[in-house]
This record gives sequence, structure tokens and C-alpha cells, in this order.
Amino acid sequence: MKTIFSGIQPSGTLTIGNYLGAMQQFVKLQEDYQCYYCIVDEHAITVPQDRLELRNNIRSLAALYLASGLDTEKATLFIQSEVPAHTQLGWMLQSISYIGELERMTQFKDKATGKEAVSSALLTYPSLMAADILLYNTNIVPVGEDQKQHLELTRNLAQRFNHKFNDIFTIPEISIPEVGARIMSLQDPTKKMSKSDANEKGFISMLDEPKRIEKKIKSAVTDSDGIVTFDKENKPGVSNLLTIHSSCTGESIESLESKYKDTGYGVFKQDTADAVINVLKPIQDRYYALINSEKLDEILDQGADKAAFTADKTVAKAKKAMGLGRVKKKKG
Ligand code: AMP
Ligand code: TRP
Repeated sequence: MKTIFSGIQPSGTLTIGNYLGAMQQFVKLQEDYQCYYCIVDEHAITVPQDRLELRNNIRSLAALYLASGLDTEKATLFIQSEVPAHTQLGWMLQSISYIGELERMTQFKDKATGKEAVSSALLTYPSLMAADILLYNTNIVPVGEDQKQHLELTRNLAQRFNHKFNDIFTIPEISIPEVGARIMSLQDPTKKMSKSDANEKGFISMLDEPKRIEKKIKSAVTDSDGIVTFDKENKPGVSNLLTIHSSCTGESIESLESKYKDTGYGVFKQDTADAVINVLKPIQDRYYALINSEKLDEILDQGADKAAFTADKTVAKAKKAMGLGRVKKKKG
């Protein structure tokens, strides 16, 4: 069975963009693959965090994964900082990462530009991400389009290591979902929907109450021609709502276009809001049942143990390949 690895940062409640672009796919994949899903808290601290908020976000993210249908019989859910192998291999991979290639990463440039103090971890972030993936002999990494460059670097680092030291890493493939790959902001549909948007009306959080969801969709920016058709260039707002609607109901965009041909934006927006609420409401109910439960802690303990079992073996191989530590003599 092939192995899948993916990670999400615990940096605020996830948006419908994260759900449709990542989490929904993760849940489906557990049926056919051995899956590792990681809450990457060590990636989160590459930018300043409030400690209590970070703690809450980690737990909340874990509960959201489970509420979205993640089945721990099938998939392994764990917190990055609870498996030390990640930073161990991350360091080793930093030693073969070039500053030049790290500086070329657009995520680094975006996050670093205009900041007074930029942490060195923000620069070396992709080496840690490569470690996350390579620890588990991962075959496939399902992520949104924005992570493509990091995945290419991961493949390069794996090949570089294999070539320089020993052939121990599996070269992972990236997998980007087709529809819903990029959900845009409701207020500026030329920008990606992001949970860190200063304007709360730009994104729908997975925990937004139904009334709030409805309000946000009704005030989503569209255009003045009143026709529901998919045209990313000229009608980015309507196209974005069509993508959201289609991803939530499974109905094709063409079919939605003909359904709302003569209705105008009012009805279309109301139905889109209902489609989103139908997806999120059951997830929210399960979330609130889990968030303060001991069951959640048990799941995370087991996940960390299971992940460490595989990850530690890879670290041992990588150390040996690089000549770190000692050759262990057999006892007796
Ligand atoms: P982030 O919130 O940036 O840590 O992203 C977590 C996961 O969700 C990654 O796989 C992203 O590519 C994906 N993602 C984030 N924002 C969006 C969006 N607006 N549309 C689709 N996928 C997204
Ligand atoms: N960098 C990813 C993001 O910002 C999160 C991430 C960290 C990740 N490690 C990963 C994604 C490993 C996939 C695989 O979205």
C-alpha cells in the first residue's frame, strides 16, 4: 500500500478553503492509502505565536481533522513536536540545503518581505517540511497548489541525499486536487482565501455559525452583470462561488451554470450558503463533542507513538548514512 503524508499548520481556525483544498481530500484518501496527517506546530513557530493561542489551535485542529471524518483505525494523526525525529532529520537536511534555493521560495519571500525581524527558521522551513515527508517513505503528498515549490525542493533534497550518502529516501509525488484547488477570498476574489486575512468577511471559518456563513456569502464581492457563469478572468467572484458550491455539493460547474441561468445572484448565493452550511454543520457538531474529551488525548498519544516508530527508523538510517554518532556494538 502506498503512503501519503500531509501537514497543516495550527495557525488559526481553518477556512472552507483549507477544507475543500486539503482536508476533504485527506479524509477520502484514508480508504486507499496508508496516511499520516501531521499538525505541524514546529512550522507555526517560524513566525511569532502567542503560546496559549498556539496550544488551543493545535488541539482545535486535531479535533477538526477527526470531526471531518478522519478515522484513526485507518490514518495516523499526530502533532509534529511530539515526534522528535522531525527536527532531527530537519537539521540533517538543512546541512544539504543551499541558502540560495531557500531564498528563492515564494512563501519565504511573501512572509519575509517588509518584516523587521525574520527568523532563520522561516528560511529553513522547507528543509523541515522535507523531513516531515521523507521520514515516512512517503509516495504521495496531497496539498494545495501553493505548496508545489516546496514539494519540488523536497524531491531535490531527497535525490541529493540519496546521491551524496546512501539511497534511503523515497522520492515523493505531489497531488493537487482538481476542483477547489484554490478557493479565493470572498472580498477580493483575486487573492487566495486565507485564515490570516485581516478582513473576516473574506473567509469562512470551519467553525463559523450558519447565520454568519450566510451573511458572509451574501456579501461576497461579485460583479454587476447578474449572470452566473464561470469566467475566472472577468468574473472572479462568481467563479469562486461556483467552485465553492460545486465542491460542497459534488454538482458540476456546468450543471450549476444552467441551473442558475435565469435566477440572478440572490438565489445563487442563498443556495451556495446552504451548500456550505450542509457540509460544515455536522462537522461542527462532532467538533464540539470532541474538543474537551479525553478521547482526543488518547488518539494523539497513540498517533505520536505510531509515527515515531517509523520516523525513528528513518532517522537511524540517515544518521548512519551521514556518519553521525557511533557505530552501535551488538550487546553480549
Ligand atoms: P495553510 O493554511 O496555509 O497551512 O494551508 C493548509 C493546507 O490547505 C495546504 O494544503 C494549502 O495548500 C491548503 N489551502 C490553504 N488555503 C487554501 C485555499 N484558499 N484554497 C485551497 N486550498 C488551500
Ligand atoms: N508548508 C505547508 C503549508 O504551509 C504545511 C506543511 C508542513 C506540509 N509540512 C508538510 C504539507 C508536509 C505537506 C507535507 O501548508
